[in-house]
Amino acid sequence: MIFDVVTLFPGVFPGPLGAGVVGRAIERGLLQVDAHDLRESAGDKHRQVDDIPYGGGPGMVLKPEPIFKAVRQLQEAGPAPCVLLTPQGRLLDQQLAAELATLPRLVLVAGRYEGFDERVRTGLVDYEVSIGDYILSGGELAAMVLIEVVARYVPGVLGDDTSAASDSFSGGLLEHPQYTRPVEFEGQRVPEVLLSGNHEMIRKWRAEMATERTRTRRPELIHPSTGTARTCAANKGEPK
Ligand code: 6GU
Repeated sequence: MIFDVVTLFPGVFPGPLGAGVVGRAIERGLLQVDAHDLRESAGDKHRQVDDIPYGGGPGMVLKPEPIFKAVRQLQEAGPAPCVLLTPQGRLLDQQLAAELATLPRLVLVAGRYEGFDERVRTGLVDYEVSIGDYILSGGELAAMVLIEVVARYVPGVLGDDTSAASDSFSGGLLEHPQYTRPVEFEGQRVPEVLLSGNHEMIRKWRAEMATERTRTRRPELIHPSTGTARTCAANKGEPK
């Protein structure tokens, strides 16, 4: 899968995407992350990409022409839906990530300043995505988060024994507690059930812990009538 990122700060890529699971997938050719300098698509010699807002107000607005030019140029190679990173977008979750991972190529637009000329939204963009209810100074970190989350659904990126679809959060619940050696640390012991070797009891304990942890920390993730994860297939068709 190819991710093209249009940004005023191409130098920050690949950044953390160059490490770990995603970094290895890039090295193996399963993923490609290419950053493109928005200023290269500016029309004038001052390479101006922003301008003052019509109607007045603070800050600058990203002009439509450089963004349209940059994105359309990348789309000449073939169809590639355009994703705008914006706090006004649809909240990124595992479901949206899985959907985006079915596409062979995405063009991501990371903004800065007070925002984009509205015609970018209405005339160019296919998806608007936010990574959470807080404000970042620019879309670059959000683009990296999106790439990381989507990449985990690309076949082969995770090892054969793991898949994003079997991740705890894809099951819609928070992860159960994990322990490793030593069996006792600063007076805290590993729960006996995990040392028991009884795999059926361990499976039950983990499921209970995941449900209990979700109930106390993220009750909105649990379906009120079934008591299971809201996103679980069994709850499809029921009201969220
Ligand atoms: Cl996608 N962009 C910015 N600038 N801030 C954000 C965001 C995106 N998602 C959450 N906050």
